Amino acid sequence: MTTPTSYQADIRPLFTQRDIHAMMKAFDLASYGDVKAHAAVIFDRIRGIGGAVMPPPPPRGEGPWPQSRIDLFGKWMADGCPP
Ligand code: HEM
Repeated sequence: MTTPTSYQADIRPLFTQRDIHAMMKAFDLASYGDVKAHAAVIFDRIRGIGGAVMPPPPPRGEGPWPQSRIDLFGKWMADGCPP
C-alpha cells in the first residue's frame, strides 16, 4: 500500500517563491485549483515536453527537477490530484 499524496503536503513545497512569481502571469503555482486545472501541461513542462523544460536552468531558474520530484508530481496526478 502506498500513502496517498496531497497538494498541501507534497506538491506545494516543490514550488519556490521564484517559480510562483515567474509563472503568475500564466497560473498560480501556490493555488491548489490552478495547479490541478493545469496539472497535465505542468507535468509535460517539468519533463521538457511541449516547450523549454521548467524550471529553467540557472540563472533564470533553479533548473530541471530530479526524477524523484517528477515522479511525485505524476503520482499526485495518478492519485486524482488530492488537495
Ligand atoms: C504549463 C507549464 C509551464 C509553461 C507553459 C511555462 C512557460 C514559461 C515561459 C514561456 C517562461 C519564460 C517567461 C519569460 O521569459 O518571461 C517561463 C519562465 C519560468 N518558469 Fe515556467 N512554465 C510552466 C511551468 C513552470 C513550472 C511548473 C515552474 C516551476 C516548477 C516554472 C518556473 C519558471 C521559472 C523559474 C521561470 C523563469 C522566469 C524568469 O526568467 O525570470 N514554470 N515559463
